[in-house]
Order: sequence, then structure tokens, then C-alpha cells
Amino acid sequence: MALAHLMEHKLLSDVTGFSALRTGALAERLVTQDRSAKLGEHWKADISVCDRQVLTRDKKVAWYTERPDEAQFTPAARKLLEQYSNIPADKVEDHVVNIRNEAWDIFPYPCIGQFRFLDLTLREFDIYPDVLKRLHDGQRLLDMGCCFGQEIRQLVQDGAPAENIYGCDLREEYIALGYKLFRDKDKLKANFITANIFDVTSPLTELSGRFDMIFAGSFFHLWGYEQQVKVSKLVAALLRPQKGSIILGRQVGSYSAVEPGHVTNADGKMFQHSVESLKKMWKDIGDDLGISFTVDAKLAESEGLLKFLPSNARRIWFTIRRE
Ligand SMILES: C[S@@+](CC[C@H](N)C(=O)[O-])C[C@H]1O[C@@H](n2cnc3c(N)ncnc32)[C@H](O)[C@@H]1O
Repeated sequence: MALAHLMEHKLLSDVTGFSALRTGALAERLVTQDRSAKLGEHWKADISVCDRQVLTRDKKVAWYTERPDEAQFTPAARKLLEQYSNIPADKVEDHVVNIRNEAWDIFPYPCIGQFRFLDLTLREFDIYPDVLKRLHDGQRLLDMGCCFGQEIRQLVQDGAPAENIYGCDLREEYIALGYKLFRDKDKLKANFITANIFDVTSPLTELSGRFDMIFAGSFFHLWGYEQQVKVSKLVAALLRPQKGSIILGRQVGSYSAVEPGHVTNADGKMFQHSVESLKKMWKDIGDDLGISFTVDAKLAESEGLLKFLPSNARRIWFTIRRE
């Protein structure tokens, strides 16, 4: 795979100025080698097996399954694809696998390998009926790091006015694949924005202070602690500055907070929050911003996660409410 192709897909020059390969010297060396239009065998010995697997989109990683199992392809996801997207029941699984394979070549996130884009999380929150009501009342919701935007399609299928729903992702290709997955390019009225959360000149920042609700699924965990604090502040700035504005979501968490290395994360780290560390981080953020946030969070079992993460790992579900 030519390096130019990797650069185009933002792998080497990922979003925060960090390289997904994490060693600037290595990235520089690869660029130099690419100038000679030849990726020789010798450089491969210099990078870790994991880095190489990301570079080459190797499928022999613990977080890649050829086809979705029943826990991944839930009845709710099937129903959405069959009823909202009108995909025949006997064709729907092949369709999902084909889209996943295209997405894997764009960037091999573990959640893509694991078919996590079939997760419909928002509807599992106790406050889901309230989210729908707020959208009906004219409030706005942003799905931050929406990827294919499955949560947006579920909201629309459940009757929410699409004009009040926004999705934002770094990768335009994922948003395009979302239209392809759900076959709704000509009918969906939701708003999609391609933007890097760190880019303060992006079209997303024009909407600062205008979202009543922000959903963030497997988003904040894309960074280590320090970067998570920055991202959380940037996301908080998108919220309408009034009591009751909320950020809700789920991501990888842990019984005791840890920050292991992570091969696809931009800064090479993944801070996995415990309930306590998440509350403390938002207390500190609130103190810094002069705002008070209330955090409700809980850990949930997830067998899928434990296939490739330590036994302490769980999903953490959270609601962060501005007071
Ligand atoms: C792991 S996926 C989660 C997708 C989806 N929210 C879900 O729960 O299934 C993370 C998404 O965040 C996007 N992303 C990564 N870095 C970003 C950034 N700096 N700004 C905006 N989106 C970003 C990725 O392109 C990817 O689609």
C-alpha cells in the first residue's frame, strides 16, 4: 500500500498533530522512503507488529471478526436496516459486511472491526423518550464522532424531526458510507458536518453553544487523559449555555481508571474511565470553566470487549448535565 494513500486517509498525519504511528522519526523516514516511490521490506522491522497491522489493514487482529455475531447484529439493528432502509432480510447481513469492509480500508478502528456501528445505544438510555420529546420541541442534538450515523437513523425512525439532528465526523468517507449503509441519501434531512473537533476554524464551531444534547459514542476514549480533557472542553463549548443541556454516551471504561497504550488512537493512549475518574474529570473541567456539571455514570458488562481488553474493562455509560 503506497504511503501517499495512507497519508490521504489521514493515518500518518492524524488529527491532533500526533501521528497514529506515534514516532515522528519513523513517519518522517516513511515519507522519505515514499519519495523514492518504494516501500522496501527493511522498514517493516522498525515498527511494532500492532502498528504494522494498522498500516496494512491486517485483519488478523483480535478486534476483527469476519461476520457479525448475534450480540453485534442485534434484532434492533436488523429491524432498522430492514424497515428504515428497506433492505431484504436475506440480504442485510452481506450488505453490512460489505460496508464494514470498505470502512476498514479507510481506517481500521476496533469498533469497525467489531461491527460496533450496529450498536443502537441512545434508545437504551432511560431518558430516550425525553430526548425524542426535546427534539420534537425544537431542541438540537449532535452525534459527535457519528461515523455512519446509526443513532441518527434510529432517532428518525422513532419519529424525531431530522432537521434538528446533526452528525459530525472527521472522516467524510464514513458519513458517505452511512448514506450507503442506510440507503437514505435522497431522503434523510439530518445535517452532517465533516470536522475535526480540534479545529477551531471548522464549520462545527459556528454552531458553538447551540446544541441542547450531544451524544458521544466511543468518542472521548479515542485519546489519553490530557487530550480527553481538551476534547471534553471543546464538546462542552458546543452545548447551549443553560441548565439542562446534556452530553450522553458510552465508551470503554474500567473498574479502576487506566491509560494503556492504544494502537489506533491519535496520541497512542486510551484513558479508560472508572465512574469516579469520570466524575472527577468533569468536576475539574467545570471548575476550570466556571460551570457546574452533574455526572451520572455506570459500568456495564461487555463480553465483546473482553476478547481484546483486560478483565477490568467494561463499557461506561454516562450522562453529563449542565447545572
Ligand atoms: C470509534 S468511532 C465511534 C463511532 C460511533 N460514534 C459509534 O459509537 O459507533 C469514532 C469516530 O470518531 C471520529 N473521529 C476521530 N477523531 C475525530 C476528531 N478529531 N474529530 C471528529 N471526529 C473524530 C472517527 O472518524 C470515528 O468515526
